[in-house]
Amino acid sequence: MKLITKTLLAALSLLPLMGNTASAKEQIVVETENTALVLTVGDNGRLYQSYLGKRIANAGDYASLPLGLEAYLTHGMEDYYEPALHINRADGNPSTLLTYKSHSVTACKGGKETVIVLADPVYADEVALHFVAFEKENVLKAWSVITNKENKPIELEKFASSLLSFHSPHYYLTQYNGNWASEANATTQELHFGKKEIDTKLGTRANLFVSPFFQISLGAPATENSGEVLVGTLGWTGNFRFTFEVDNAGYLRVLSGINPYFSRYRLAKGESFTTPEFIFTLSRNGKGEASRNLHDWARRYQVKDGMGDRMTLLNNWESTYFDFNEDKLITLIGEAKEFGVDMFLLDDGWFGNKYPRHGDTQGLGDWTETANKLPNGIGRLTEEAKKQGVKFGLWIEPEMVNPKSELYEKHKDWVITLPNREEYYFRNQLVLDLSNPKVQDYVFNVVDELKTKYPDIAFFKWDCNSPITNIYSVYERNNQNHLYIDYVRGLYKVLDRIAAKYPNLPMMLCAGGGGRTDYEALKYFPEMWVSDDTDPVERIFIQWGYSQVFPAKVQCAHVTTWNKSASAKFRVNVAMMGKLGFDLNLHDLSAKDLAYCKQAVKNYNRLKPVILDGDQYRLVSPYEGDHAATMYVGKDKRKAVVFAFDIFPRYGREFEKPQHNVILNGLDANATYEVREIDREDCTVGEAKSYSGDYLMTVGLPLLSYNRLRSKVVELTRK
Ligand code: GLA
Repeated sequence: MKLITKTLLAALSLLPLMGNTASAKEQIVVETENTALVLTVGDNGRLYQSYLGKRIANAGDYASLPLGLEAYLTHGMEDYYEPALHINRADGNPSTLLTYKSHSVTACKGGKETVIVLADPVYADEVALHFVAFEKENVLKAWSVITNKENKPIELEKFASSLLSFHSPHYYLTQYNGNWASEANATTQELHFGKKEIDTKLGTRANLFVSPFFQISLGAPATENSGEVLVGTLGWTGNFRFTFEVDNAGYLRVLSGINPYFSRYRLAKGESFTTPEFIFTLSRNGKGEASRNLHDWARRYQVKDGMGDRMTLLNNWESTYFDFNEDKLITLIGEAKEFGVDMFLLDDGWFGNKYPRHGDTQGLGDWTETANKLPNGIGRLTEEAKKQGVKFGLWIEPEMVNPKSELYEKHKDWVITLPNREEYYFRNQLVLDLSNPKVQDYVFNVVDELKTKYPDIAFFKWDCNSPITNIYSVYERNNQNHLYIDYVRGLYKVLDRIAAKYPNLPMMLCAGGGGRTDYEALKYFPEMWVSDDTDPVERIFIQWGYSQVFPAKVQCAHVTTWNKSASAKFRVNVAMMGKLGFDLNLHDLSAKDLAYCKQAVKNYNRLKPVILDGDQYRLVSPYEGDHAATMYVGKDKRKAVVFAFDIFPRYGREFEKPQHNVILNGLDANATYEVREIDREDCTVGEAKSYSGDYLMTVGLPLLSYNRLRSKVVELTRK
């Protein structure tokens, strides 16, 4: 009875407060150099988001802000929109009311962390809202920690990492979705009253259909260089959900977090639940600036070895598939040397004896070398790589099992599969149950045993080709709802152990291409394989999509034989815009092309610091016609490189007239640059010409043409 009265009173007091000036008890300002998030404690003790926008010079002015919407909306109260938190309690009360208790601000790497503790005045739940502000990069992270201080267990039904609200006449959402081999396609829509959700339920290869990031333009659709835009992404290697809800008063709420689908989570007395980090930046100068904010932040603070170098490589997957033996691989290791790349990477197909991995139907789970393919084991290959002066990398897919394997025969209880049902397979395989600590040990040991036996393995490509299918865990017998979440936590435990024992071991995050593309995984993986599609035309779109959030440094891009109507140069130039690798053999190339590729590797090595660590400017969008151009500018603005492409018109389209010039960006306007075409097909360079930065950023350069599938690379050097 007492509770109902309280709730009603709160309901009556909330609505008039929304438009009023806050008579604040407490105001908490989370600031970067350009952005401020202002949270205010209302007279009713509850926390409201009063502002998210441009930082205002005089912090005292924030006191004049209207109170805004509740900062972490809870279920069961008087606001009828999608809640961030919904707790079910043992006594049957499904509501939560949160009031401000305390807050603290501490310094952390790159910025400041603000923690605001909220508590229910009737029940003993506590929610800590965490915000980290990275001042220079203008990036913020937000997550929550929910603690059960009741004597009985509670059940979390909804548990968002973050809730942000906006008030603008128009909202435009850009999402990035697709499918295998056509990942991260951008589509934009205006949001009107109601709810739009972007989520995934795939579990492991969670991002197969949709990437865990989005852009919200406020007022009008943002362009590369203009408009106010929020770019957000969730650091969670599993099911995620973004909810965008426009309410009756025109407010937009953006909720981000783990997808609560089939994931009600029980918390025993004293237990806490930490939600994943929602990472976001707000730009008032368009999408380009937002991307550069995230790229800088990622390299400095998030990605494993974010400031370190990356190895170019030769992979054998597309040139051999499963059909190789020791001799063939030794030849390829020699070819890696000849190409001038840093590493040879042996892909799928090297393991299994009872069920040799001669195709994707068997052998996954049995991580010993197939004796008749590799009679002298991996050791013979690492030895050869050493002799040739290249590093050796190895493909594994340790979370998975083929039903045709010794592992499945021995440990069916380790496999995620439903009782009393016929199994169905995705790529002929099933997922191991990483919620089970014994399975975590097993997966850790796959890496540990290989590294112990062959310390010269310098790199792993860690694949994950199946979503979770047949969802049921023997280990979680009474908590099936926990499996999606505990799986990801189990994966992180394994990756933590690997990182602790092998802190300098680089690994490529691969999930059939694009299936795992999130910033939490990148804490463990310095790079990721964003798509199996290496057709350079498609890849221009795919890399354009991922570059919205991820720097070139983490995007592996390989030259293959996909789309042979594109020249070797065109294919290489597209791959040079990421972390360059090759996945072909020398016989796929003419002598001229081979000479070109070797030259390109040298150019890439010289320009790597600019491409991987510089500022990226997307100049001409492939979405706007049959051309694309991107440039990278070194942090000191001394060096820059522009990649320009004429793209074959897609089916049914006429070749569109290119814009006259490509207008460059990011240069020093007052400096003079020597501009030269490099990386020509015949290995020559063009004549050097000089222009001011101002000219290049106003008039630009004529880099596009009516030619089909033609590319140009231009290097700029400040005089
Ligand atoms: C996935 C990866 C490929 C390759 C194969 C091997 O599809 O994305 O690069 O490693 O698996 O089976």
